[in-house]
Parts: sequence; C-alpha cells; structure tokens
Amino acid sequence: MEKPAIEGGNPVRKDFLVFGQPDVGEEEINEVVDSLRKRWLSTGPKVKLFAEQFNKFIGSGFSVPVNSCTAALHLSLIAAGIGPGDEVIVPSMTFAATANVVVHAGAAPILVDCQKDTMNIAPDAIEKALTKKTKAVIPVHFAGLPCDMDAIHALARKHALVVIEDAAHAVEAVYRGKKIGTLSKFTCFSFYATKNITTGEGGMVTTDDAALAEKIGILGLHGLSKGAWSRYSAHTEGFRHYEVLYPGYKYNMMDLQAAIGIHQLKKVNVFLAKREKIWKRYNDAFSPLPVFLPPEPGSGSRHSRHLYILVLDLGRIKVSRDRILDALVKEGIGTGVHYKALHLQPYYQKRFGLTPESFPNATFISERAFSLPLGPGMDESDIDDVITAVKKILAYYAR
Ligand SMILES: Cc1ncc(COP(=O)(O)O)c(C=O)c1O
Repeated sequence: MEKPAIEGGNPVRKDFLVFGQPDVGEEEINEVVDSLRKRWLSTGPKVKLFAEQFNKFIGSGFSVPVNSCTAALHLSLIAAGIGPGDEVIVPSMTFAATANVVVHAGAAPILVDCQKDTMNIAPDAIEKALTKKTKAVIPVHFAGLPCDMDAIHALARKHALVVIEDAAHAVEAVYRGKKIGTLSKFTCFSFYATKNITTGEGGMVTTDDAALAEKIGILGLHGLSKGAWSRYSAHTEGFRHYEVLYPGYKYNMMDLQAAIGIHQLKKVNVFLAKREKIWKRYNDAFSPLPVFLPPEPGSGSRHSRHLYILVLDLGRIKVSRDRILDALVKEGIGTGVHYKALHLQPYYQKRFGLTPESFPNATFISERAFSLPLGPGMDESDIDDVITAVKKILAYYAR
C-alpha cells in the first residue's frame, strides 16, 4: 500500500492545488483595466449593468448590488424592520456571517439544527424554536442544495415570519422549477472570491418589492437620496443635492468589482457544467470509500454544486478528520471545512449556553466533513490528483 506524504511517502502533487481558486479570464482583466482607464472606479455604469444582467439571469423583480453577501443579509434585516427585541432563526450549520448580521441588527440569532443528510436547516427545528419574538428565518442553501422552501414558507405564512434566504452558495440553484432568488421576500447572494461567480468581494439582494429594493439601495450608501454616479457624472440639469434619509451604511459595490462580475455571469452556465462534471467524477471515484457522498436535490430542483463535501464514516477509519485534512495538504491538495457549526464557536456557545449535544446533526457534520477543490479552472490532471490523493489516504487509514 502506498504511504501518504504525511507518513514519509511521496506527495501526489509538487505544486499545491489551491482550494476555491476563481477562474478569471482576459475578459475580466480587460474590463477592469477599462474602468481604470476611464477613471470611474466606484459605483457607476458597470454596477448598473451587472445588476441588470443578474436580475435577468435570476428572473427577479429587482436586484440591488452591494459589496458582500454579509451586507446583503444585514440590509435585508434592517429593511424588514428587524431590531432589538426580535429573534431570527438561523441554522447552526452555516458561515459566521449568517448569524453575525442578526447581532449587527440588534436582534437575537436563534440557532437551530440541520438535517443530517441534506445539511440544510430542519423545518421541524424552526417550528420548535418559534417564540412570540420570532420575526424572521434565514435558510441557507447549504453547498448549493436548495432548502425545503415549501415547508419553510408554510411556517412563515402561519407565523408571519419574513424569509431572508442566504443564497451565498446558490447562484444557479433551482427549487421545484423556480430559481432561487424568486421565492422569498429577500434573497442574498455572494460573489466572494471562492464563490461560483465572483467579483472579488460582492453581493446582491433580490426582491420583488420595489419599495424594499429602493430602501436597500439607499441604506447601502449612507442613506443618501442619490448615488455617487448620479451626483457626479456628467449631466445637464445642473448640480444635484443629496438628502440623508436614514443613517445608512457603506455597502456599495464598485465598478471595479462589477467589471469582473459582468463577464463571470456570462460564463455561469459553462462554469456549472464543469462543476457538474467534476462532481460526477468524484462521486464515481469515492462511492466505495468510507465516506458519505453529498446529497442530491429532489426532482425539479437544481444543485448549484458550490461545495463538494465528503462526510467521513469515522467508524471505518483509524484517524480523525483533521488528520485526513493534514494528510491531503501534504499531498498538495487544498481542502476546506464547511463548517465548524456556530454552536461550537466560542461567541455563540457562550452567549446561548450551547454544547455539542445541543444540535447533534450539526455536530456530527462539523466533526466529519471536508470539502474538496471544485473549480471550473481545474483541468483533468488536477481532478485526477484529487481523486488519487483521497483514495490513497483513505485506503491507508481504513480500518
Ligand atoms: C453561507 C454563507 N453566508 C454568507 C456568506 C458571506 O458572504 P460574503 O463573503 O460575500 O459576505 C458566506 C461566505 O462565505 C457564506 O458561505
């Protein structure tokens, strides 16, 4: 049996395969250079164009560009009027931002468990966590697999909850024939560097409500009545004053960011097809190993294939998940952990008196999951290397 590099063997790769590296082409580079040459760096015509393109792609009423998904989530909460005294239900199995923004809004994030198989928020856990103070729920389409939105909307209707979808992983996702981004009051997307399409940093809120879209746009730029582009660009009607309508935030997207996004969005379907191909190759290669393969969507739904997460069957291997991560790194393969759940993180654990037993499914995944590189920029030999390294390590450490 071949020895892993961490045990003194030879690594699969000499050059490190970076986890989550974006696929950026000459089109993106030239568009950024064009913005620099035109000397229009911050919010301007390219942000407007990107938002229009995105709106068309999603099929939403309105798309409001911001500088991150975190900002998108925060502004959605503020626009929904959520603040001190309110509770917002959030899955524990998510990135910190999903819950942090609830704290930023002055409300209390109420963490709940996920389903063991889908890793998505469990509707029965939402129902159990409801109190008179519950105002909203933030389902996260984990790894790109749509949540059980019918069950979540049924609860939302019954208990008058605002649904704010965290679709950071889910740009291409479809739930029962409907695009994610068209289902709830607010949906928040991320264009962070590792996401399926990127602007470096960036985000978007989609909504069908014109008044809320306008409010989010204003709140995202200091609460001013007019954006910089309309204030400073050449126009003939003379000088325009702004008015401060709210104590807003500095969350606007830059043209330099949108310049990248305009071209990323044109490639979104090509990128997804590549991700689907890698996903299938991984599933075929890993099904005999001591792991649980990622869940698949129900009929009529589409997974956006953002994260390929394997869950180790710890009873069938001799070492911990972290040893497997270290071993993969030594083979030259970048990995990630999505996620160590929030009830295991010091701030949330202490604030709410939570223990690993509070949310057994999220704890189970936190201790066993690891993510493999899944980027459209990967070539056949990169994919082969990941498969070779995972097989080699799990064969070595199998019980
Ligand atoms: C589930 C989830 N929500 C929110 C975010 C925050 O996104 P951003 O980095 O664009 O603020 C992320 C980012 O990784 C995420 O994975």
